[in-house]
Amino acid sequence: MVNEEREGTGRLPLEEKILKEQLRPSAEEREYIHKVAARLLAAIKESGKAEGMIVGSIARNTWVKGDRDLDVFMLFSPEMPREALEAEGLALARSIARKFTTSFCEKYAEHPYINATIDSIDVDLVPCYNVASAAHIQSAVDRTPFHTRYITEKINGLVDDVLLLKRFAKAGRIYGSDQMTEGFSGYLCELLVLHYGGFTPLLRAASEWGPHLKIDIGHHAAKEFDEPLIVIDPVDPRRNVAAAVSMDRMAEFIELSRGYLESPSEAFFTLPKETPVSEEELAALLAERGTSLYAITFATPPFIEEIVVPQLKRSTGAICDLLARNGFVVHHAHYRMGTERCMLLFELLAGDLPPIRRHEGPPVWNRMNAEKFREKYRDATLPGPFVENGRYVMEVPREFVRAADLLTSPALLNVGVGRHIRMSLEKDWCVFEGADCWQEEFAGFIAGFFARCSPLVRITRETQA
Ligand code: UTP
Ligand code: MN
Repeated sequence: MVNEEREGTGRLPLEEKILKEQLRPSAEEREYIHKVAARLLAAIKESGKAEGMIVGSIARNTWVKGDRDLDVFMLFSPEMPREALEAEGLALARSIARKFTTSFCEKYAEHPYINATIDSIDVDLVPCYNVASAAHIQSAVDRTPFHTRYITEKINGLVDDVLLLKRFAKAGRIYGSDQMTEGFSGYLCELLVLHYGGFTPLLRAASEWGPHLKIDIGHHAAKEFDEPLIVIDPVDPRRNVAAAVSMDRMAEFIELSRGYLESPSEAFFTLPKETPVSEEELAALLAERGTSLYAITFATPPFIEEIVVPQLKRSTGAICDLLARNGFVVHHAHYRMGTERCMLLFELLAGDLPPIRRHEGPPVWNRMNAEKFREKYRDATLPGPFVENGRYVMEVPREFVRAADLLTSPALLNVGVGRHIRMSLEKDWCVFEGADCWQEEFAGFIAGFFARCSPLVRITRETQA
């Protein structure tokens, strides 16, 4: 068994090889990035307006080679009103960025910050409050400096384990707490490695995980949580660091852990590629499946992913309900936010339905309504009203015989799509059918739509191929 070849460190030769060749940043990379960081910190100090601090994986030495995102926080006095922090913080961030580059822009998370490219490094300049403890945070980002102090102090000796876990999670497409991934953030990876004492012990434990697992590193949970995975923030007893992890991403981490421990291979650390499908392949696939495919596209609302993606998810669900209410069976639906346009994709068992449908009436013992119902359909040519389980039922003409007609109708605007999606739809939307759904920008997304399989299944197949 390969498992028995673990070295003194408890690490497989395979893991050592990956660390050396792919994960540990080189001395030059370290020096380069720390130099840029030092120049930024000096500029903040010079301004005399805030205290600068490097946070995130660069500060903790837990970044994976080549992942050049530098998180620079600017800590302001907590006495400062919120509006002043936003205005002055942003002004300072902008003036710092301007000293180093012309390529920067304003972004909004919970509050605004500046994203800049400085010496080919992706830099976030984030204003926050310099609070006394993470329990006193005034804005969501105020916790971050505490995370950095906590991890930096404790992570010694486990940095390689964090790098392995981050790459393992990325290869399994479960890394990131963003709305599209709903997976494991960098900080969560660090805490899990700390808690279990390494990459392998974590994987062994995760193999036995179940839903609603709770890990309370600081033994101080000050609230009940009901998410699938609960990891109480050691710096804030009221925060679940794993709040973004969906049930599915958690289950995928469990199966990946089992799969890797059973037969470890490089494939578990190989970043996956999206292999796009061609229009011809899509046509052939649809012919073989015999299903009906529909795509709705519209202009991407001008907001960040964190805002748009949850609305795409909600809209997709609402349109599935609309389809179901009209008799169309939805086999699978998904969504994708592109740069210019978004796409919602629906695979139906059948896109055309017969021109009749059932219409339920009142129970016969509800005399008034029963009489009205019979009266209404007195001259009907379709079957009914007939009695079924004590109620009148009538066959009536179906309003939408073709799913395409339903999806192009104004009915689409009356379902619970998110606010920004609705504004975009009110301007215009397009509906495509069958292989016409294919578009260059979404070729990878469409391929993935039809090649659903869990990360372990994908990795196992790739290893055998
Ligand atoms: P990053 O997303 O840059 O994560 O957030 P990271 O730890 O630096 O990891 P990589 O290597 O770049 O992928 C920066 C910091 O913001 C806080 C954490 O403290 C994190 O380290 N943060 C971010 C959270 O608390 N929660 C999140 O969901 C995301
Ligand atoms: Mn980072």
